Amino acid sequence: MTDTPPIEHPVWLTTGDFTAAQEPFGLFAAWMAEAVASEPRDPNAMALATIGTDGLPDARMVLMKDFDAQGFVFYTNLGSQKGRELKAAPKAALLFYWKTLNRQVRVRGPVESVTDAEADSYFATRNRMAQIGAWASKQSQPLESRLAFEKAIALYTAKFGVGAVPRPAHWSGFRIVPMAIEFWHDRPFRLHDRIEFKRERVGAAWSKTRMYP
Ligand SMILES: Cc1cc2nc3c(=O)[nH]c(=O)nc-3n(C[C@H](O)[C@H](O)[C@H](O)COP(=O)(O)O)c2cc1C
Repeated sequence: MTDTPPIEHPVWLTTGDFTAAQEPFGLFAAWMAEAVASEPRDPNAMALATIGTDGLPDARMVLMKDFDAQGFVFYTNLGSQKGRELKAAPKAALLFYWKTLNRQVRVRGPVESVTDAEADSYFATRNRMAQIGAWASKQSQPLESRLAFEKAIALYTAKFGVGAVPRPAHWSGFRIVPMAIEFWHDRPFRLHDRIEFKRERVGAAWSKTRMYP
């Protein structure tokens, strides 16, 4: 959550009318801050939709670990189903839904890999057991028993002893670079507010459209 550009038109912040926002990043940062304050857990949870290798859409939850004007970052096992799908078709959609606020944010765009330095730096902040889990889990591959997984965890725990656990090469992050971001907020009688920001390419100006709910 770094490098969020300054909010140029804070009128919506003072009036509370988010539809007056002129760009999406400041608005997303403000909604995320409110979600952090009000959600009982995982305000950064988002549904990640990819294109399956069979052409069908595929979706699962992931945790957004970084957000700024470059995009939305999550981390995973590169050999997992989502990892393989994103390699074959580097495009995705994200969906945040905050029940306590009754808001959703919908994001679409191309996907790029984070740098090794970024992944190393985030991996180093993870709990040691989560770091060992990243080595022990062949995410999305068949697992014969829970015991087999626990054996793998014990093996890597012994292997790394008390030293630092390095990031496995098969574990890294993806950044969804938004080309469209839609903000939705409920209003009484289902007469909700929706605005969508779109741009042609990174660096181009955002267009804003209000839509029927
Ligand atoms: C709230 C929540 C957050 C999750 N966060 C992540 C995550 O950040 N990275 C990850 O690889 N899996 C995460 N998972 C597990 C995924 O939903 C999924 O089960 C797993 O990554 C395998 O997905 P795949 O087979 O499509 O690759 C999370 C699950 C939940 C319910």
